[in-house]
Amino acid sequence: MNVIPRPHSVDLLPGEVIWTSPLRVMVDEDLGEAVSTFATDLAATVGWKVDRVFSELEADLRISSDSSQPPEGFTLRVGDGVVVSAADGAGLSYAFQFLRQLCPPTTFASGSHLDEWRIPALTVVDSPQYPWRGVHLDVARHFFSVEDVERLIDLLGLHRLNHLHLHLNDDQGWRVEVPSWPRLTEVGAWRRSSPIGHEREGRDDGVPHGGFYTREDIERLRARAALRWVTLVPEIDLPGHAQAVLAAYPEFAVTSEPLEVWTRWGISENVLNVEEATLDFAESVVRDVAALFPGSPFHIGGDECPTTQWESSAAARAIMAERHLQDPRELQGLFTRRLTHTLQQLGHEVLAWDEVLDAEVPDGTVIVAWRDVAKGVEAAERGLEVVMAPMQWVYFDWLNSASPAEPVAIAPAPAVSTLEHVYEFSVVPEEIPGPLEAKVRGAQAELWTEYITNRDHLDYMAFPRLCAFAEVVWGTAGSFDEFRSRLGEHLERLTALGVRYRPLDDAV
Ligand code: ACM
Repeated sequence: MNVIPRPHSVDLLPGEVIWTSPLRVMVDEDLGEAVSTFATDLAATVGWKVDRVFSELEADLRISSDSSQPPEGFTLRVGDGVVVSAADGAGLSYAFQFLRQLCPPTTFASGSHLDEWRIPALTVVDSPQYPWRGVHLDVARHFFSVEDVERLIDLLGLHRLNHLHLHLNDDQGWRVEVPSWPRLTEVGAWRRSSPIGHEREGRDDGVPHGGFYTREDIERLRARAALRWVTLVPEIDLPGHAQAVLAAYPEFAVTSEPLEVWTRWGISENVLNVEEATLDFAESVVRDVAALFPGSPFHIGGDECPTTQWESSAAARAIMAERHLQDPRELQGLFTRRLTHTLQQLGHEVLAWDEVLDAEVPDGTVIVAWRDVAKGVEAAERGLEVVMAPMQWVYFDWLNSASPAEPVAIAPAPAVSTLEHVYEFSVVPEEIPGPLEAKVRGAQAELWTEYITNRDHLDYMAFPRLCAFAEVVWGTAGSFDEFRSRLGEHLERLTALGVRYRPLDDAV
């Protein structure tokens, strides 16, 4: 049974059940939404109809809401009929994903065909080990259309991944409409040119690039995410990575030099100044963006903020003196505190990159540990929850292999993260003391897009590494060879879905 991610427990029994269209489904009302999505998927692929029925005798599939199931978990019993119980829609949708993976891979294609759906008699008991099973997409370095992001959301759902973190601004672009600060998109959403080849070659393509999501676009993305039980996590990255902001609103810069939206990759030295009006601006922007994502966790960025300009600024030094700060890196804490406080008051959970650990971190902030595993351990030791995203393991902008035939990536070998390496990733690091293990909420794979300019290349970098990651963070990774033996059929599913995944090394 080539299901990915592998369930925690499957007992195969003698016999089978055979379904034909129309599929008659009896469901408790509160789980109806997940059934609608399942019905839409079946109609769009194999053209099957799903009919709601109200008596057990008529039902091919009986679905009951059962609050004793764990969050996002399900139990599936196939024998005398097919019965699913789940506590929530996510759990039910994962039961459907399991059932669909019992069909031939070709049935994942739209306009495909299925005469009979044969399901072996079995009992599956399954639920995720970690509540945060995330993927991050940088839409700032390269903009991805609403359709591309919707498609990625669907692929997350297939792999039972449940958070999509959208990196909505960087030095090279601002990607979400903020009505009170219109120049963020009027100016900040477009750059004149981008590097061609690797940044270190210093060549430019001279081709303007840009784009942004309107309020309606965000609503569409949220609606799609809801269908797939994915939570969108917006990120506004301040006070570093802010050159696109400063091109739009130079009054918030330290430098008085005019700035354009950055046309190089790397870390711009141009950061926000630390004056009160700038903190007010940051708060106002974050409030407006948060309003587009009601109830979502909100990521306030905070990575890679150079302090060179603050160190040479008399205004910044005066603020350090006034606040008795010893190290310029602590100035970043002014942003962390202000933004976290605002967002928490608005009911949003707040996440930040691990650099915020260089200053005091407000309670309740969740750290996304990216520089290395030790940063995750440090956060947990400081009493904070952590999402593990160490670049050495789950940065999918890293090379897939050391072969010179790989397309240009962020860093040269040995910055390589092979499929097998990803599969060997431990969500909870060995270094973490036992009592702090519970601080690890899960893990997240990152897709930074300096060198990922289009959807096909995104597919190549994401898959099949994301299949391996999904199983790791579901909590059922075992032997790589065994995973590899299931992956072949899964890749046929991805082919049917039009995913241009990277072929396996032994398949090329
Ligand atoms: C990061 O990769 N700069 C979070």
